[in-house]
Amino acid sequence: MWNDLPSTTRTGASFSIFKKLLKTLLFREPQKKNIFLHVNDGSSLQSLQVVGGAELSDPLLTFGSAVEVTGTLRKSPHPQQPVELGADQIHVVGECNSVDFPFKIKERHSLEYIRQLPHLRCRTNVFSSLLRVRSEATTAVHSYFKSNGFLQIHTPTITSNDCEGAGELFQVEPSGPDFEEEVNFFSVPAFLTVSGQLHLEVMSGSFSRVYTFGPTFRAENSQSRRHLAEFFMVEAEISFTQSLEDLTKVMEGMFRSTTEHVLAHCADDVGLFHKHVTPGHRVSPEGQKCPPYSKEMITYSEAIDILNRSSENFTFPTDWGCDLKTEHEKYLVKHCGDVPVFITDYPYDLKPFYARDNQDQPKHTAAAVDLLVPGVGELCGGSLREERLSLLKARLEDVGLEEIYSWYLDLRRFGSVPHGGFGMGFERYLQCILGVNNIKDVIPFPRFSHSCLL
Ligand code: 4AD
Repeated sequence: MWNDLPSTTRTGASFSIFKKLLKTLLFREPQKKNIFLHVNDGSSLQSLQVVGGAELSDPLLTFGSAVEVTGTLRKSPHPQQPVELGADQIHVVGECNSVDFPFKIKERHSLEYIRQLPHLRCRTNVFSSLLRVRSEATTAVHSYFKSNGFLQIHTPTITSNDCEGAGELFQVEPSGPDFEEEVNFFSVPAFLTVSGQLHLEVMSGSFSRVYTFGPTFRAENSQSRRHLAEFFMVEAEISFTQSLEDLTKVMEGMFRSTTEHVLAHCADDVGLFHKHVTPGHRVSPEGQKCPPYSKEMITYSEAIDILNRSSENFTFPTDWGCDLKTEHEKYLVKHCGDVPVFITDYPYDLKPFYARDNQDQPKHTAAAVDLLVPGVGELCGGSLREERLSLLKARLEDVGLEEIYSWYLDLRRFGSVPHGGFGMGFERYLQCILGVNNIKDVIPFPRFSHSCLL
């Protein structure tokens, strides 16, 4: 990648690139003596300017064509670009019919427009920036966990459990002539995973601190701007954790260190979003610091009081015991000063069977915590897990799942420890730091209700 060349060769006068395939993103009309191309190999937002003599001009050199250029890298006379490539040869490897090409030179295309072209949108500046940020953020998440003593576990994609108990499952069935009679996964029920949490809990009994980061599936019949049928989730499970505060520290640490890494490594790409796509967004690429977010921590009961004291006309009810909807989350974030807000201690009945019972509170709550962030709402969901065998058994009996989860009860029978964990929606994280409104614009190939393009 030209941008990765050591600085001595980049500024030197005699470095040659041979047989380098570069994509032409911008082709300027031949001027009097020279032709100018802007080529980009995807390594950076910055294109490399190629300068060639008029004899290298070719009618096939159009916006979008793929070229191979041989020449000499030299110091550029323009202060805003350190080097340019003086071309000896330019070979058009792949022609591009610029009349039919859906992107036009010097035109800024909206995210909605480029979303219609999932096979071509990585050719735009904005989507290639997004993909670089996504890749760096992935690296940063792994490095946060590695440097904090977590072991990475590959949890399965096909599973027999509905961890969240919400019934939003995609069932897995074989297909093909040999399986016409087959309705299940070789005669046993199987689903695409909604969460790797229960598998992480198995591992946390042995490794203390574990995490996973992979695709997760929810059969949500939703076109909303923050729901996908397939999304990536970062999940962590920590043994010997006794308080929600311990969990929130890990959530915050991961958020901060990932964001600082992205700002340090993708300042141009993040800057493109903040300048042209989401002006006014708060994460500053110049500062290379995580947003100066203070944060709030309030209980669910306090959140309900805040909502009920407000003069807003909410569509959904705000009685104690009701689930917090997007409109409520938005209001709470604004109310707390547009900062990330941790909401703790949700009604026991709202949370899945694994959440720990807060027995000592006047209202029946579970030790669960959600992190809400500006512009997105819920980013992370987590809880302490019920490690006490008798309470867990009683809850599983209540919901009729005792038999299916006998193996889960074994985890409590054989050397259980207090533990807890959380999951963060990776696409929502990208929406949050880039200020992108629609989740479909931060994933390479979005899958959502009635849409599975490519
Ligand atoms: O709150 P959720 O459902 O929590 C769990 O799945 C836990 N088992 C995680 C754990 O404790 N290990 O999901 C966690 C996060 C949400 O806060 C949200 O950011 C994201 O996953 N998420 C979605 N993102 C995109 N599309 C969807 N349909 C999502 N559903 C959840």
